[in-house]
Amino acid sequence: MILLIDASSRSELISYPIRDIIQEAKKIEKTGTKMIYLNIGDPAPFGFRPPAHVLEAAAEALKQNYSGYAPSEGDPELRAAVAQHEKVATQDVFITAGLSEGIDFLFQALIDPGRNILLPTPSYPLYLTKERLSYGTVDFYGCDSNFEPDLDSLRKSITKYTKAILVINPNNPTGAVYSRKTLEGLVNIAGEHKLPIISDEVYDQLVFDGEGVRLKDLHKDVPMVCGNSLSKNYIYPGARVGYLAFHGEGWDKIKDATQRLCNQRLSVNWEMQRAYIAAIKGSHEHVKSFNSELRKRRDILVKRIKTIPGLSVVPPKGAFYSFVRFEGPWKDDLEFVRGLLKAGVVTVPGSGFAPNLERKYFRIVFLPKPEQLEEAFNRIEKFMK
Ligand SMILES: Cc1ncc(COP(=O)(O)O)c(C=O)c1O
Repeated sequence: MILLIDASSRSELISYPIRDIIQEAKKIEKTGTKMIYLNIGDPAPFGFRPPAHVLEAAAEALKQNYSGYAPSEGDPELRAAVAQHEKVATQDVFITAGLSEGIDFLFQALIDPGRNILLPTPSYPLYLTKERLSYGTVDFYGCDSNFEPDLDSLRKSITKYTKAILVINPNNPTGAVYSRKTLEGLVNIAGEHKLPIISDEVYDQLVFDGEGVRLKDLHKDVPMVCGNSLSKNYIYPGARVGYLAFHGEGWDKIKDATQRLCNQRLSVNWEMQRAYIAAIKGSHEHVKSFNSELRKRRDILVKRIKTIPGLSVVPPKGAFYSFVRFEGPWKDDLEFVRGLLKAGVVTVPGSGFAPNLERKYFRIVFLPKPEQLEEAFNRIEKFMK
């Protein structure tokens, strides 16, 4: 019997362009081209490792009795450590499987069909998929020429269907780090419209230029939920542990919903939660050296792009991404990125982050060692010629 089983129409709404491009890259690789993968924001393949004391805590937890289900909302000690760090109460903290699961929970808890979380453009693609899957209206606010939120656009984009405002700072895909003035303006607008803020802070320690101001210190009485994880700041994305921390008043119903969402998926890997405790409480020396390596690589990227006709970039100040603009004969960003694939460099088309922007951008990760990054730019330069 040959049976073709239909996929649900809902599943058609799911895409993750950062990884979707890999299948095409693998096909080209089979023809003999050795690829340089600059599509995924994972420091591990480029030689960066989690701090030793965090790995030791994970190994120690494996020897102890952490083999059962953890409490659904998280290990009590981890919740307390996060609460102290976030300056909230322990019951305001929920541990999730990476911030990815936290994002999923927020959409499930907040969004009815037709409503939306107002997203910045460009945005991390998981938010776009979750918005579509919630049958929400996908609404965006714009950014200025430095990729900081454009406050006029934000004001104009708020509608009666807006349920919350998303801020990603430092930003993926642009590497922008927002100024105090922008963040204060954003809080004021959220306050005027009585809207909570969702603050995605997965890169909050990875700032190598600029002020590194945190919304936590500015949000006043505007309710805010901060999301973070072990993935980027502690260079441990494979651990899959993150959290949501609810700041301010008004969250009771959402916290109840989050607890139920935690219960239905049972728990998060307990050993890795123990590692996160060590990360939060232990030395943060690695952040200095990681940031200094990132700055070095960012400088190479900016220097090379300046000398390649047809490319331009706003120098990233944090995280490890840049959103590069191209000019030239290509029909759109997909054609451009496919061309780059043939030249041996894997990047992500900008429209995966910003369906409403001009299709003239691609995202590139600048985590590789300097020699490899130079080689990637040699290939890009040749391709542009
Ligand atoms: C802006 C942003 N938020 C959230 C995530 C999800 O991170 P994780 O699930 O690894 O904590 C990522 C991952 O790349 C990201 O870039």
